[in-house]
Amino acid sequence: MINQDTIGKIMDTARIEEVVGDFVPLKKRGSSLIGNCPFHNEKTPSFHVSVAKGIYKCFGCGKGGDSVHFIMDHEKYSYPEALKYLANKYNIEVEEIAQSPQNIEAQNARESLYIVSEYAANYFANELWTGEEGRAIGLSYFKERGFREDIVKKFQLGYSPDVWDALIQSSVAAGHKEDYLERTGLAIRNDKGKLYDRFRGRVMFPIHNFTGRIIGFGGRTLKTDKNVPKYVNSPESEIYHKSNVLYGLFHAKKAIRDADNCYLVEGYADVLSVHQAGIENVVASSGTSLTTEQIRLIGRFTQNVTILYDGDAAGIKASLRGLDMILEEGLNVKVVLFPDGHDPDSYMHHVGSGEFKKYIENTRKDFILYKASILLKEAGTDPIKRAGIIRDIVESIAKIPDDIKASVFIRECSGLLQIEERTLLSELNKIRAAKFKKSSNTNNAQSQQFQNPYQDGPPDNLFENPDPGAALAPEAAPDNDQIQEREIVRLLLAFGHELVNWDKIDNMYIGSFIMQNLSDVTFEDALCKRIIDIYREEIENGHLPVANQFIKSEDREIQDLAITLSTSPYTLSDNWYNKHQIYVRDETVNLKATILGGIFHLKKRKVDRMLLSLLQEIKTEEDSTNQEILMQRYSFIKGVEKEISKFLGSVILK
Ligand code: UTP
Ligand code: MN
Repeated sequence: MINQDTIGKIMDTARIEEVVGDFVPLKKRGSSLIGNCPFHNEKTPSFHVSVAKGIYKCFGCGKGGDSVHFIMDHEKYSYPEALKYLANKYNIEVEEIAQSPQNIEAQNARESLYIVSEYAANYFANELWTGEEGRAIGLSYFKERGFREDIVKKFQLGYSPDVWDALIQSSVAAGHKEDYLERTGLAIRNDKGKLYDRFRGRVMFPIHNFTGRIIGFGGRTLKTDKNVPKYVNSPESEIYHKSNVLYGLFHAKKAIRDADNCYLVEGYADVLSVHQAGIENVVASSGTSLTTEQIRLIGRFTQNVTILYDGDAAGIKASLRGLDMILEEGLNVKVVLFPDGHDPDSYMHHVGSGEFKKYIENTRKDFILYKASILLKEAGTDPIKRAGIIRDIVESIAKIPDDIKASVFIRECSGLLQIEERTLLSELNKIRAAKFKKSSNTNNAQSQQFQNPYQDGPPDNLFENPDPGAALAPEAAPDNDQIQEREIVRLLLAFGHELVNWDKIDNMYIGSFIMQNLSDVTFEDALCKRIIDIYREEIENGHLPVANQFIKSEDREIQDLAITLSTSPYTLSDNWYNKHQIYVRDETVNLKATILGGIFHLKKRKVDRMLLSLLQEIKTEEDSTNQEILMQRYSFIKGVEKEISKFLGSVILK
């Protein structure tokens, strides 16, 4: 376990904008930084980072937390792993408290898989550079192919000797457990229970996750025998999820951000060659066909993808549809083709890095226009085929979420296909309408499940003059007081430390004022109640709690709610107004109305609910005397309710 001092040091040093900024491009907007949320798919940014508070919050999907939680969520790290990541980022020495062997075992299982993978990569590299077989076969192979030593080293390439258990022997001698070798897929157990190396007699390409840890391998055979698979790859494991990984991303991410473009190639060898040519913003989907997760991974760094293809016609046609997936994610796609059956790797070695760079820059074409031109060529003058193409291309354009971008393509394609823009537009609208109909059916079902009351800020009715008609019948839905209770917690966190001087109240903290006024109210929402109880206890002990105490709470539920509430759009979202064209009254201008509004709305809720349940009781009560008593109570409470309503009306009107 990491000791408390170290945790404190890490929390003090880690700056949220730097931690998040490593993964999400952030722009300044008002008092916060915003970007596209890395946790859900979005085109317009709703992910906010508050530098002052040291937290992030997404108003789209609701995720939020501090630096440690960001790393946990983003990298799927455990709490100690995330702390270690931050310690490493800021060069903080980690001091650990001694633990029981079982605990270490449990906590470190995943860590052990990383460690054994790292060990294997070093072992393979060492074999490549110093082993007899490795130098003679592996290293000379890389040299023959024209890979420079610095590239071979940078990508930690290696060689696995052609022996059944070379890695196993070496790892076990170094103290690694066979179990971990098996769980990473580096070793395989056969039917007879014997363990053997997965990779034998192959050059090795370690696969890094994008923070740079080794999670798997690709091993290429050097034999030309057609019966031997060219590549053997690590299987999926607890640390390697293929659909989430792009080969080369760790070495490319900085360049991708700087160039605001990502080159996408097919193979390990292509990544190395393009990188060697000085184009470092290159990744490969390696082994799997491109997945949506991989596209989103790229989308965290840039909105621009350029595909580098080998020029083989069958491959091109097959991939056209796959590329629509990238459009759908809102990214811009360009394409570069290579002549004469070259792939990026062979073409780079064929023309040299200078020419290669020029070629890529000069021949890249926009994907949709490229697609249109290939299909057109294929269709020739056949009118039926041409009509099919038009539909096909407009379908691609319909995938682009940005309307303005889509209409630019419509214009360009109208020139290319020699069809009136109007015709294309009407086709586009038809496809869109059909799509909309489909998605709105599914969306409805989703939105009904979503229950974050502060998703769009506090409810509108919070500051409104109560509807006179409402005094006749108690409010019904929703069937709990969560919204009003959470509003109280929000007010405590936002304004608890401000002093008020209202009428007869002199120099009192809002926190104490609220607690005093709600001493007779029972909170029903369990989480609110926990926070209120802590708040009350602290006040009774003579301390006034600060918002940070809850925001930094070790209790993840309390922390989540505190973050959600203290980043409600009132404080964070200055695009609120622009986005929704809704007038939001600035609550700080009339703080008294805000605070009293909060208190009395909650009271009104409680009273309304008392009235409702009394009505229920009156209806079911058979004894007439009892009924009489209940009615009296009802009319008394009704009187209270009227007073509150009147009061609310007058406070708000003032
Ligand atoms: P390529 O055959 O283009 O491989 O397959 P390459 O990386 O360019 O290798 P060289 O140039 O022949 O040395 C593209 C990618 O598909 C996956 C690998 O990730 C490879 O890099 N692949 C290919 C496999 O996983 N298994 C295979 O048998 C072949
Ligand atoms: Mn190749």
